[in-house]
Order: sequence, then structure tokens, then C-alpha cells
Amino acid sequence: EVMKEVSGLRLLETTLKEAFSLSHVIVVPGDSDKSSWVKKEMGRASVACIKERLIGKKNIVAVTGGTTLAAVADMMTPDPKQRDVLFVPARGGLGENVQNQANTICAKMAEGSSGQYRLLHVPDQLSDEAYKSIAEEPSIKEMMHLIKSAGMVVHGIGDAMTMAERRKTSQEDLGKIEEGHAVGEAFGYYFNQSGEVVHKVKTVGIQLDDLKNNKCVIAVAGGSSKAKAIKAFMQQAQHSILITDEGAAKELVRDF
Ligand code: F6P
Repeated sequence: EVMKEVSGLRLLETTLKEAFSLSHVIVVPGDSDKSSWVKKEMGRASVACIKERLIGKKNIVAVTGGTTLAAVADMMTPDPKQRDVLFVPARGGLGENVQNQANTICAKMAEGSSGQYRLLHVPDQLSDEAYKSIAEEPSIKEMMHLIKSAGMVVHGIGDAMTMAERRKTSQEDLGKIEEGHAVGEAFGYYFNQSGEVVHKVKTVGIQLDDLKNNKCVIAVAGGSSKAKAIKAFMQQAQHSILITDEGAAKELVRDF
């Protein structure tokens, strides 16, 4: 019986890997919408994956926010090979509560791994003018350089409307997200079901195009309710690694 379940998960992994041209997929048992331990298991699998993929003696790992990434941080342990790891937030503020912010998660990951961290203090909703002048600040420029040089990026994916509401998005932006039929969100970008960007939160840090530059990109997202969101994002995320759960994976493969 156990063997049967394991081979079922492996089949889900290879199916998803091929469907989205990913470099690796891990599916943990269960559905994180239904049981909270499943998110912890995704966290554990992510930590193992991060450690396997660290290269060289010095590593910069950029992370996003959210409850799933918080679960990854909770599971973080020191690297047995004692390589240097510096954690940085992938982007500036995206309108999350403090416990879900990339800065908080980045500090927690460093604490768990006995690594280092650097924070990025940028307000959430930036006007064009503020964005331009902040991006010119020497301390921000230095951080930007560090963030963009990250060899690894670990990020969450959320349902578009859930995220828009959680961030208390303005009426105007909500309109754009709705009209664009956004179903998924990651890094502050909102995607429709074909994987096209329909709205983007303006902030400094890693932009979508930066992900294509030779980085190891690890997406961590599960729960059957996130299937549409995961599909939207993964369509344009070739060669990424996806760490998900059985709940999301089963829902995803139903479409194929
Ligand atoms: O706001 C940061 C973020 O990583 C989003 O990009 C993503 O949609 C969301 O968090 C995921 O949050 P959760 O893991 O709580 O579902």
C-alpha cells in the first residue's frame, strides 16, 4: 500500500516535470489546504532541495514572503557542509503583514541555518517618482546589486484574488487584476491562465526577467486551491524547480 502511494507521487512528479518543462519536481503527500502539517513537509523538502543546490563556498539566496516560505524558514537547519549563505529578500515590500514579509522570512532563514542576512527597507506602494529616487539611493543600489547577483531564488505562488485582498490592493489595481482575469501571483506579478502578466506591483528588487539569468529558481506552493495559480506561473517558468503537494498536483494533472 505504501509503495503504491509512493509510486503515485513519483508519477505526479514526472507528469508535472514534463508538462511544464521543469528541471525538477517534488510532490509531498497530502493537501496543505486540509492539513497544516503538509505545508511543514513542503518546508522540509524545500530545505533539503536548497542545500542540495547550493554551489560554491559563498551563496546568495533571495526569498519571497508568504506563509509557505515562512514554513520553509521554520524547517531551516545549518548546512552540514558549512558553506556561507547570505539570505536577502527578493523584492521590496509587497503589502504583507510583518510575519509574511520577505524581510522577516529572510532573517528567520539565516537564524535557522546560522547564516547571514541583509534586509531591504522599501515602502510597499511606490509612486513612479518615489520609485526612481529610491532606486538611486546608494544603500539601495548596493542591496539591489547583491539581490540581483543571487544564485538561488526561493519563492511562493498565490491565488491572484486571495493575494490582492490580503495586500489590501487599491480599487484601481483590483480592477486591472479582475479585468485581466488574473489567476496566479508571484513576486508581485499577477498572471492570467496563459501565464501572461496582467498587473505588476511596483517595487525594487528581482524582476521577472532576472529569473531567466542562470539562477536556480525554486517555487514552493501547494494546496488544491492553488492549482490554477501554480499552472499560470509555471507555464512561463521553464527549468524551475517546483515543490508542491499531492492536493495541488492531482488537481493540476486533471487538466492534462
Ligand atoms: O507576498 C509574497 C508571496 O510570496 C506572494 O508572491 C505569493 O503569492 C504569496 O506570498 C504566497 O503566500 P502563501 O504561501 O501564504 O500562500
